Amino acid sequence: MADYRPDDHRYDSIAYRRCGRSGILLPGISLGLWHNFGGVDTEENSRAMIHTAFDLGITHFDLANNYGPPPGSAEETFGRILAQDLQRYRDELIISSKAGYRMWPGPYGEWGSRKYLVASLDQSLRRMGLEYVDIFYSHRPDPDTPLEETMQALDQVVRQGKALYAGISSYTAEQTLEAVRILNDLGTPCLIHQPNYSMFNRWIEDGLLDVLEDHGIGCIAFCPLAQGMLTPKYLGGIPTDSRAGKSHGHLQVHEVTGKRVEQARLLQDLAQTRGQTLPQLALSWVLRDQRVTSALIGASRPEQITENIRALDQLAFTPEEINAIEQILAD
Ligand SMILES: NC(=O)c1ccc[n+]([C@@H]2O[C@H](COP(=O)([O-])OP(=O)(O)OC[C@H]3O[C@@H](n4cnc5c(N)ncnc54)[C@H](OP(=O)(O)O)[C@@H]3O)[C@@H](O)[C@H]2O)c1
Repeated sequence: MADYRPDDHRYDSIAYRRCGRSGILLPGISLGLWHNFGGVDTEENSRAMIHTAFDLGITHFDLANNYGPPPGSAEETFGRILAQDLQRYRDELIISSKAGYRMWPGPYGEWGSRKYLVASLDQSLRRMGLEYVDIFYSHRPDPDTPLEETMQALDQVVRQGKALYAGISSYTAEQTLEAVRILNDLGTPCLIHQPNYSMFNRWIEDGLLDVLEDHGIGCIAFCPLAQGMLTPKYLGGIPTDSRAGKSHGHLQVHEVTGKRVEQARLLQDLAQTRGQTLPQLALSWVLRDQRVTSALIGASRPEQITENIRALDQLAFTPEEINAIEQILAD
C-alpha cells in the first residue's frame, strides 16, 4: 500500500467559516461517514475518499457510535485510516462522534443517560484509536431522561479531556434553548447543533436558526443532498449501486417520489443556468445563510467530493434565483 502524502496546497482555496461565536473554523463542506465506511464497504474506497477530502482542505470528519453497518465499523475503518495515513495530521483535524441511538442491548445502550453517553464515548475512542474527539454530540433528545443529566454527561467528558467541545443534534428550537442554558450554567458552552437541512427539509428555518444565532452556536447541516435525491442519480429510476438501491442504505425507495424527482429535474435546469451541477446548487443554497457553518455531505466515491466542494465557489444567489427555487420547492 502506497504511503499517503497530503496535497501541499490543501489550504490554498477552500473557505472556512466560523462556528458560531467560537474559536473553531470549519470547512464549508465537511465529510460524514454514516454510509460507505462500514464493514460491508470496500476499505480502499473509504480510504480514497478520506484522502480526497483532506487533500481538498476538508478538515472535519463526522462519525457516530452506530455508523456502519455493522454499528461501530465506520469508527474502526476511520481509526485504521487515521493510524495509517493521518496520525501526523491529528492537530489539523476536527473529528466528531455521537451517542443517542441504539448501540448495545439492554437499558443502557441508547438515548441520553450519563451511563450510556460516557461508556459510548469510551468505546468510540477505542475504536478510532484516539485520546479525544474534538466534538461529542448528544445524537438525539431523550424524552425520558432529564436534560440536565444528558448535558452533565457532555460537560463531564469535556472536563475529562475526552472531548474538546459539546454538541447537540436534532434538538428542537425549544429543547436547544434549554440545553444551551444548562450547558452555559455548567461552564461548557454548546459549540454546535447538527440538524437535518436541505432544500427538501427546511424545518430549521422556523426558529432553530434564530436560536443558534442569538446564542452564538454553529450549525452543521446533515443530509444537505437529501441522501442523494438532490443529485441527478434518481432522474432515470433507481440505480442498483445508489443508496436507495442498496439493501442496507437508509434511503427507502418509497421516499424517492415522483414529486421529488420532478423537483430535482427543475432544480437541475436552474443549476445549469448558474453553471453548476445539481448537487453544487443544493450545497450552495444550504450555505447561502451565514448561520449555517458547514454542509455535512456523504459520499460513495471520491469524485463526488471533488464535484461537491466546487459549490463553495459560488455561494451568492440573485433574488430571481431564490424566487425560482422557492417556486419549485412550493409545487
Ligand atoms: N445527526 C444525525 O442524526 C445524522 C443523520 C444523518 C446523517 N448525519 C451525518 O450527515 C452526513 C451526511 O449524510 P448523507 O450521507 O445522508 O448526506 P447527503 O450529502 O445528503 O447524501 C450523500 C449521498 O448523496 C450521493 N451523492 C453525494 N454527492 C453526489 C454527487 N456529486 N453526485 C451524485 N450523488 C452524490 C451519494 O449517494 P450514493 O451512495 O447513492 O452515491 C452520497 O452517499 C452523514 O455521513 C453523517 O455524518 C447525521
